[in-house]
Amino acid sequence: MDRAEKIDSIMKRRGFLWRSSEIYGGISGFYDYGHIGTLIKRKFENLWRHFFLGLNPMFFEISPSTIMPEEVFKASGHLEHFTDPIVRCKKCDFVERADQILENILHEKFEGLSKEELNEIIKKHKIRCPKCGGELEEVSEMNLMFPIEIGPFKKVRGYLRPETAQGAYVNFTKEFNALRKRLPIGLAVIGKAFRNEISPRGGVYRLREFTQAELQIFFDPDEINDHEDWESVKDLNMIVLLAGSEDAKEVSCEEMVEDIRLPKFYVYYMASVYKFYTEVLGYPKDSVRFRELSEDEKSFYNKLHWDLEVKLETLGGFKELCGVHYRYDHDLSSHEKMSGESQKVFLNEKKFIPHVIEISFGIDRNIYALIDFFYDERDGKSVLKLPFKVSPFDCAVFPLVKRDGLDERAIEIYKNLSGHFDCYYDDSGSIGRRYARQDEIGTPICITVDYDTLKDNTVTLRDRDTANQIRVKIGDLSATISKIIQRGKF
Ligand code: GAP
Repeated sequence: MDRAEKIDSIMKRRGFLWRSSEIYGGISGFYDYGHIGTLIKRKFENLWRHFFLGLNPMFFEISPSTIMPEEVFKASGHLEHFTDPIVRCKKCDFVERADQILENILHEKFEGLSKEELNEIIKKHKIRCPKCGGELEEVSEMNLMFPIEIGPFKKVRGYLRPETAQGAYVNFTKEFNALRKRLPIGLAVIGKAFRNEISPRGGVYRLREFTQAELQIFFDPDEINDHEDWESVKDLNMIVLLAGSEDAKEVSCEEMVEDIRLPKFYVYYMASVYKFYTEVLGYPKDSVRFRELSEDEKSFYNKLHWDLEVKLETLGGFKELCGVHYRYDHDLSSHEKMSGESQKVFLNEKKFIPHVIEISFGIDRNIYALIDFFYDERDGKSVLKLPFKVSPFDCAVFPLVKRDGLDERAIEIYKNLSGHFDCYYDDSGSIGRRYARQDEIGTPICITVDYDTLKDNTVTLRDRDTANQIRVKIGDLSATISKIIQRGKF
């Protein structure tokens, strides 16, 4: 088995994630999380919450609905612009994104080209159906939103939201007033988004139903060239790839402002995202970079658009996990026009529509990335070296054998710890197999109750990453586990 197959096997066997409704064959682009996947997802979301809401006391989470009326997406531009170019084979009906077919055959990137440009390239290179060799239809545009009819008889047209962001925009004025009319304020949403992707692929990399964690930061555009916490990031070095360039380079945040001419307020949030990946999740710096999107690639609502990419072996290189977007006043201005409700604020002795910087994470992609990146092997066995804070369990408790009172002692310890930690109990199979099972799902600490425990009230603590063991007094267990999890190292 290669790395991708080994990871896929662990995800299916051990309760991470798999195709939804698989007993009926499933539908591409939909995945279910099992018990381990759900624990990891919850921990990742909590880590995200603590880090990004912690950036400013005026950043809060809200929970808007996932179904929104058509007007929202007329205003936001999604109805008109949220499309992908699609092409169909006249002979076998195979459909694919037109840019993707070209990329697969010509090994170049074609994302962001118009349907006219794509048609020309198809004609010039005499591209035919990759499945049957048949002739292709003209490229057309397909809207990626899922429409729905709401209510009985006289139905109202709505859409499943394609991004959580719109929920923050339509609630902006209410929250601005509730938060005592100050800026900047941040509104975060963690929840489902839905896109009718033409060809979902790469496991959870491109889904039709997925979870986003997005933070919309509303600010006074006259203050874009400063940030009150600038000093804390100005010397931070990041690896960046400029649009049109082949080579990534390392630059400081100060240089991003001075040489690349990005506003400080924007660079501050790029730096925060970079820190989240390198310091909180612990990705090595050379595996993380920011890529600037070209004019063709940028989302239609963005003035500035940089993606955070991580190098992932099973997906073939650097892949987008998150975006940092300067959406200008695009959304609030459009909602003001469409709804007739003013989105202006009166602040700093002027009336204006706030601008928005958006931090946008795909949770599913990030979880897959962690599993892919931190998968390792020791003596031919799988070890998932996840950052401790996103490991499904903090610790597992085992009796060495299931007799002589060791199991009762182990259950007592398990019960005490499980009030404070995500804790797992296992007394089946050999101790070696139990360690291997925990290594495979990424549990950082295994606690074993043995015969010495009955004599001196100590247990062994085993480190997932090295298999080294130490002995700890039962009375010190909670404090020791807390320290190890906090430190992120045994
Ligand atoms: N609100 C802005 C927005 O939605 P985006 O670049 O379309 O921007 C943001 O998406 C993030 O959501 C991406 O960086 C990616 O992590 C995730 N994402 C987007 N489409 C996805 C899909 N089809 N499946 C899984 N994750 C997706």
